[in-house]
Amino acid sequence: MNGDGVFAVARLVFDALYYIFPAYCANAAPVLFGGGRPLDGGRRFIDGRPILGSHKTIRGLISGIIVGTLVGWAQESLAPRAGLARGSTLLGLLLTLGALTGDLAGSFIKRRLNLKPGESFPVLDQLGFVLGAFLFSLTVEPPPLNYVVVVLVLTPLIHLLTNLIAYMLHLKRSPW
Ligand code: CTP
Ligand code: MG
Repeated sequence: MNGDGVFAVARLVFDALYYIFPAYCANAAPVLFGGGRPLDGGRRFIDGRPILGSHKTIRGLISGIIVGTLVGWAQESLAPRAGLARGSTLLGLLLTLGALTGDLAGSFIKRRLNLKPGESFPVLDQLGFVLGAFLFSLTVEPPPLNYVVVVLVLTPLIHLLTNLIAYMLHLKRSPW
């Protein structure tokens, strides 16, 4: 690959990660700001197991919505000046709601399979939230297909790395 090729790939990777960044932040916020009352109110599903689990909290959800949307808003304010791809507050909000919904759907599925909170479910743990984010983004600004490919390939690596760091900092109780 020549210099132009390398630059084009680097630019694509940056733009794709920039696009999905609100979803990453929305997914990370609950680890820092979550806690307190559980979203499922401690209730159980018809199979007798927790609907989501006590670790999925109202504060975590609200912090995710605020942080992810603020990131979209920051992108919208920055874009014209820095020559960056255009993010927007609305896209940030949709990516955020999608990410949080995807993550909760993942937890719902894991509880149905009798997996304890924090127990590993490869692929779902790493990609559930980005799939949710992409799905919701279709309503406002569908991502180019090459962004989707880059994000699906890189997110598992980034997710495992950031979760490992959060685990080592005692922010998370499991390294995935
Ligand atoms: N969290 C929260 N509220 C949410 C989501 C997450 O408070 N709505 C916090 C919890 O402390 C949770 C941590 O963020 O343990 C990590 O979230 P996540 O990785 O999504 O959950 P897991 O511990 O992996 O649980 P699950 O098995 O349900 O995926
Ligand atoms: Mg998880």
